[in-house]
Amino acid sequence: MKPVTFDHWPYPRFIAHRGAGKFAPENTLAAFRTGAGYGYRMFECDVKLSADGIPFLLHDATLERTTNALDALGHGLSQVGGEHPWGTLSLLDAGSWHSRRFAGESLPTFEAIARFCLKNHYFLNIEIKATPGDEHHTGEVVARHAARLWHGTLVPPLLSSFDVASLEAAQQAQPELPRGLLLDDLWTGWLETALRLECVAVICNQNLWNDSSMRQAKSADLRTLSYTMNETASAHKLFGMGLDGIITDRVDLFSPASL
Ligand code: G3P
Ligand code: MG
Repeated sequence: MKPVTFDHWPYPRFIAHRGAGKFAPENTLAAFRTGAGYGYRMFECDVKLSADGIPFLLHDATLERTTNALDALGHGLSQVGGEHPWGTLSLLDAGSWHSRRFAGESLPTFEAIARFCLKNHYFLNIEIKATPGDEHHTGEVVARHAARLWHGTLVPPLLSSFDVASLEAAQQAQPELPRGLLLDDLWTGWLETALRLECVAVICNQNLWNDSSMRQAKSADLRTLSYTMNETASAHKLFGMGLDGIITDRVDLFSPASL
């Protein structure tokens, strides 16, 4: 028996990737606001821990692609995001790399993003993207924060990860929160693992969905989602096969109004 059951799947079909991370700097509040401006009501984001245990949004393990850390911290200091305390991370510019318009945009705490979503009745897919070596701890801490922030609300956030240890830790810490197994490859035992983790969904690289994988997931009562879908033809094909949702960068192309 799964601890998480929904009478119906509560999430929208269209999920904005990293906020709306192409039209604004990914994994920032500006990206969420941009996605919301396109009518999106659900967002995916990547969450990891600072050195002092604060969950915050960042995709890469390192800071240099999406912040000004090389300039701000100096070339001699570690670029690993999870090796800095939140006090240092919170001062970085996470917007200028994208465009001048977003200069000064901050890295957000997970809590700030959660509050934005809760206040606006948006849904959230939290990808647990631990700093390498910190997978179990990150899964536990993120799940605990998510449970605290969404306490008493009708629809919980969907926790997901490529990392089995992170999902195991989330399952142990907060079994009631729904989980999705992310797959970039149909590795041996993926379905058994998703079931052992009591997942409600598998979220596959779009190239992995075919009649066989879709049938296996559906027969196991798992919802089927796909990332990162940026073309209408492939999305229509997969929806025709029974896909339940897509995570997309192209918030301009897929209209949530077509739900
Ligand atoms: O959660 C779906 C997608 O975000 C996974 O890939 O690398 O964009 O985090 P990535
Ligand atoms: Mg992600």
